[in-house]
Amino acid sequence: MNKNLTEILLCPHCKENLELTIIVGGEEVEGSGPMTPGSDVATGVLKCACGDSYPVIDGVPRLLEKGLRALPVFGESNQVEVESLGHQTDDYEYIRQSFSREEWSIFDYERDKTWGWTLEERIRVFMDDVALSRDQLGGKVLLDAGCGNGTLSAALSTLGMKVVGLDLNEGLGKAGHYKSRYARELSSNVEYVQGNVSNPPLKPGSFDLVYSSGVLHHTPDTKESFRQLVPLVKEGGRMYIWVYGRRNVLVRIYMDSGRQLKKVLSPKALLTACRLLAPFYKVGTEALDFLGVMTFRKRTVREITLDLFDAFAPQYNHRHTEEELKAWFKKEGFANITVSGKQKHGFGVYGDKGRSIFELQDPTTRLEDKGTPGRSTLQTTVLPAPLSPETPVSS
Ligand SMILES: C[S@@+](CC[C@H](N)C(=O)[O-])C[C@H]1O[C@@H](n2cnc3c(N)ncnc32)[C@H](O)[C@@H]1O
Ligand SMILES: [Zn+2]
Repeated sequence: MNKNLTEILLCPHCKENLELTIIVGGEEVEGSGPMTPGSDVATGVLKCACGDSYPVIDGVPRLLEKGLRALPVFGESNQVEVESLGHQTDDYEYIRQSFSREEWSIFDYERDKTWGWTLEERIRVFMDDVALSRDQLGGKVLLDAGCGNGTLSAALSTLGMKVVGLDLNEGLGKAGHYKSRYARELSSNVEYVQGNVSNPPLKPGSFDLVYSSGVLHHTPDTKESFRQLVPLVKEGGRMYIWVYGRRNVLVRIYMDSGRQLKKVLSPKALLTACRLLAPFYKVGTEALDFLGVMTFRKRTVREITLDLFDAFAPQYNHRHTEEELKAWFKKEGFANITVSGKQKHGFGVYGDKGRSIFELQDPTTRLEDKGTPGRSTLQTTVLPAPLSPETPVSS
């Protein structure tokens, strides 16, 4: 992490500022660790006046509610520094939800696509979702709330944004390690924070754009998590949320059966079950696709494994309607509330907080064509070829 990220971080417990102590600087682990050029801190401690402290591990601030106690390994390997700050590392409990740990642990940054999309497609989907052009996004600060494997967050920096990826999962150190594959020379504009979107450890008004895709319905209370993100958007900024919609009976039966497995299996065993199911799923969906019954994106067996696990494992999988979400945005005082990013399994809504900072820009740079099927309407957008090895999809 860069030292100046501390300026927008808050203690998740009391929402006060944090003071950074660097244990290992970024430059010292050059070539051996996850640090990329421009990083100042590989290992450190963020201390709050309330008495809580939070580790920085692999260049990622870990701002979980239970602080150091949630990460015993850190306490063991940095015992002297941690104890000198007056903290005990026992009596802890992991706060992570099981799916976030297993899910991204199998993602291969060298080879895998996320959700069957190439990076270029994901950037286009993002731009369609938020209905903003490259010119409008350039120079802005984005929060990717629930950034998953962090590849999209990193890639979005190539649009000229500073990006913070927030997620509960432990694998953000790996995301940091690989961020220059996706952000290239702009990787110092990308930061990851391990934290809870339902209690974001970030300062109000820090972001021009808050984007959360496929995340809030996995929290205990989607609406409440939405409300917690609202203050992070600065005046005139935009917020975009994508959630699961209601599905037809057949899909519900399929999903519910998969989720029955979760009730009887440990996350590890469920992952194994998904690995076993994935080849059959691949053959089945490719046959349906070939016969023209339904369309599916082409994915490898491992990518399907991850998708199946993502569908079956989460503790919460709430479903919502467009009306519900639009009402939430309205209640929070958003304007220009618009449904965007409809897919067969969900939809998104965005809104602007007061007079839009994006509208103040040259209107000729605005999107002309949005909302057509396929979520990839920015055909004219010139994107740099991704450095990632993600292979193009054929569907
Ligand atoms: C389906 S993935 C979507 C990831 C990413 N937005 C994308 O589109 O690729 C859901 C992500 O939400 C994260 N998540 C779930 N609950 C969370 C919470 N309370 N706080 C932060 N992240 C959370 C999980 O760790 C997981 O990475
Ligand atoms: Zn505090």
